Amino acid sequence: MNLHDYSAQLENSFYKLRDFDLKTAIILGSGLNQFGTDLPLLYSIDTADYDFMPVSTVEGHNSTIEVRSISDKPFLLFRGRFHFYEGYDILQCLTPVIIAKIANISNLMATNAAGGVNPYFKPGDLMIINSFNSFNIRKELSDALQDIKTVDTYLDYPAPELIEKLLETSSETGILLKEGLYWYNKGPAYETPAEIKMISKLGYDAVGMSTVHEIYFAALSGISSIAISCITNYAAGLTDQKLAHSEVVETADLIRTKFETLISSFILKTV
Ligand code: HPA
Repeated sequence: MNLHDYSAQLENSFYKLRDFDLKTAIILGSGLNQFGTDLPLLYSIDTADYDFMPVSTVEGHNSTIEVRSISDKPFLLFRGRFHFYEGYDILQCLTPVIIAKIANISNLMATNAAGGVNPYFKPGDLMIINSFNSFNIRKELSDALQDIKTVDTYLDYPAPELIEKLLETSSETGILLKEGLYWYNKGPAYETPAEIKMISKLGYDAVGMSTVHEIYFAALSGISSIAISCITNYAAGLTDQKLAHSEVVETADLIRTKFETLISSFILKTV
């Protein structure tokens, strides 16, 4: 399957999303699973009902695509995402962004859980991803995106207007935001302490296994994007504790209200 054929298949099933006149899409990461369940639901599908689409296999992730409204304005919500470490190929991992493109979305916010590498970061902090490494998935991305001109293309990330809206949201809600660099690890295993030492020396602030393929493809597709990490744990080797997914989910749960308030206020500014 190539990008052109997969996009055509998705377009056949989801072209009706264009009728909603959507501007903003949100991809929910670990722990944000319940976001928006109290908002009016205008459209919903479960990717499990489409045999050509992936299904999230990660604990605490669903795989529904929803249109909900906030102050009567609709937005697109991906409840769950698809990671390489689940064994999916790059095109399947890009499903939310391809659908966002079909829906004519102009703003994309991706959220995730990440390990804190910066010694000043604590579990529960929220970090705007200012930039990221992509070299460890460039090969997969460029193989899959052959249909798109990628040579000499400047990756336009983050979108300055979305950063501005997020910073406004932060000062209006009093929810503090850190900013930093996100190191992408393909997974499936967490990093070793030696890797974290290297990542830290290179100047990165947080580490995770998602999001980069999404914002990379969004940037190439002309969708303005921004990503936020919820720091759920100290990265490997920074404490004596062994890292586990349950810790990630627990911390994300603890700051759920704060994260949800930030996201809803941000959506209100962009729909
Ligand atoms: N490493 C990689 N991915 C993660 C982490 C981490 O420490 N925490 C949450 N997702």
